[in-house]
Amino acid sequence: MSKIFTPFNLKHFELKNRLIRSATTSYWSDEDGVLRQPILDYYERLVAGGLGFIIKGHSYVMESGKAHTGQSGLTNEKHIPKMKELTKIVHSQEVPIIAQINHAGYSSKADRITASAFETDDLQAREATIDDIELVIDSFANAAELAIQADFDGVQIHGAHGYLLSQFLSDNVNKRTDDYGGTLENRARLLFDVFKAIKKRIGNGPIVAIKMNCDDFASHGGITISESVQIANWLDEKGIDLIEISGGGPKQDRSIRKVRAKPDENSPYYEANFAGHAEKIRKGIPSVPLALVDGIRNETAMEAILSNNLADLISLSKPLIIEPDFPNRLKRGQSSSKCIDCRRCLSPDVFGKQMLKCNQLD
Ligand SMILES: Cc1cc2nc3c(=O)[nH]c(=O)nc-3n(C[C@H](O)[C@H](O)[C@H](O)COP(=O)(O)O)c2cc1C
Repeated sequence: MSKIFTPFNLKHFELKNRLIRSATTSYWSDEDGVLRQPILDYYERLVAGGLGFIIKGHSYVMESGKAHTGQSGLTNEKHIPKMKELTKIVHSQEVPIIAQINHAGYSSKADRITASAFETDDLQAREATIDDIELVIDSFANAAELAIQADFDGVQIHGAHGYLLSQFLSDNVNKRTDDYGGTLENRARLLFDVFKAIKKRIGNGPIVAIKMNCDDFASHGGITISESVQIANWLDEKGIDLIEISGGGPKQDRSIRKVRAKPDENSPYYEANFAGHAEKIRKGIPSVPLALVDGIRNETAMEAILSNNLADLISLSKPLIIEPDFPNRLKRGQSSSKCIDCRRCLSPDVFGKQMLKCNQLD
């Protein structure tokens, strides 16, 4: 029997199926980080399309931690009314939704901070002081509180993709000699402090999830699979509700990314780019709900991921840009996503310059 369309209990929420929307920025909020109408319209189509659970695209927790033009914010009351409209749309179909919250660190638009002074050809960032760190922690908790005020069912901490928390985790960026640097436990301290502050602020009712790297895919250093298993274990002990397995951190080498986390070549879920690493994470933390993202396109792969107990939830981003109703299409017998991974939805020509859409055929 198909597992894709079986329900799943996440905390006290019953998800109607295993297909979830991975955080995907619409890059079309106004200059104050307030959602514009086309974003609400898009979520209306998404939620009508049969998903079991939605993670909203990342919102910045501090103005100075904003990642890009058009990013939504969760920094003060002005963000709440439109966010509330969005959660109302999603809840009208009885689908739970959480807000992803983020600080971009050295990729921020202004006053760039990161774990240790960092420089590339394109940017310069200063080392965060303890005051900066305390402000970051408080800002994550504040953003979580605002998300709950806007009726989100919880939050997802963005701990992946080379943003601030991922920068602190990486020994390629983090050279600190205080409590926030050195050992893996110290490099993970900012993430754990953020988690603790959020729990303290919003309590145990809402979902607190994380998107984390299984691997930074750096040629030297950075988070590797043994460290990510350890981090996932610590998060389990601390009471994380859901771990979404992603990958790619500071100093990522895309050629390594293509191979290092892949499962066996003959595996039915070979297309799932991080499935090989997910097998190890699942073994290390069998009881925490897991979602797996990246490259999953075919029903056969989804089914195999679920029936082999690699993950509980199938997380999708680009397939829902080209077909917001992809879950319903799968249910009706379509076997695969139409997304060809051209990545034109991420091209600088469109990113932050128009509402998110699939540009595959343009
Ligand atoms: C247009 C676009 C926007 C994205 N925005 C976010 C985001 O806000 N937060 C995040 O964690 N990942 C973001 N991602 C990454 C996706 O969530 C996902 O991890 C990645 O696209 C791989 O999944 P896929 O193969 O299903 O597309 C974005 C991806 C795309 C294509």
